[in-house]
Amino acid sequence: MEALHIIGEEHQSLAAILHAIRFMLKEIGAGRLAPDLKLFQAMVHYLDAYAEQRHHPKEDLLFKYLEQRSSEGAEALAELAVQHAAAPQRIAVLQQAVAAYAVDPTRFADFARAFEAYADFYRGHMLLEEEIVLPLIRRYLSEEDWIAVDAEFRAEMDANSLDADSKEDFKAIFSKLVACAPAPIGFGPRPYLD
Ligand SMILES: [Fe+2]
Repeated sequence: MEALHIIGEEHQSLAAILHAIRFMLKEIGAGRLAPDLKLFQAMVHYLDAYAEQRHHPKEDLLFKYLEQRSSEGAEALAELAVQHAAAPQRIAVLQQAVAAYAVDPTRFADFARAFEAYADFYRGHMLLEEEIVLPLIRRYLSEEDWIAVDAEFRAEMDANSLDADSKEDFKAIFSKLVACAPAPIGFGPRPYLD
């Protein structure tokens, strides 16, 4: 059940980043925090490169076992499949909002709104996974299924390990984002440097 543990950890990291951005937007809106555009851009990049491109494909690997074992949860799985497939459009809206804000600081409210919509979507998305689909997966997958899906997860992680120059170390990026985010959610504020 290593796969389930990995999904749980990834959801926690994702929730932490969403929470950090939401907190910063609130503080900036209240005039208590100076915006750090590079930090916002790095967080949006993390959401794209990690959550949308690495995390969802692993969930799809896991979810297909439930599909094979039971028709229970079929509606939720269909909805999640549509939501996963819409990742490029979803992240594009956020990237455009942050890019517009980068060239024009008066677009802050638009960026904040785009982010709130993104975060709200994710909250519902992860709730659907955690409250409906993951409990069914725990119930219906056999021991052989777990051996197979754990091996698939390991293969995915090996394929994306840091050996290749182009791969990113998402654990390190996450730590750096948290180090720069303002207290009490992070250890900053500290300027985000590339
Ligand atoms: Fe997902």
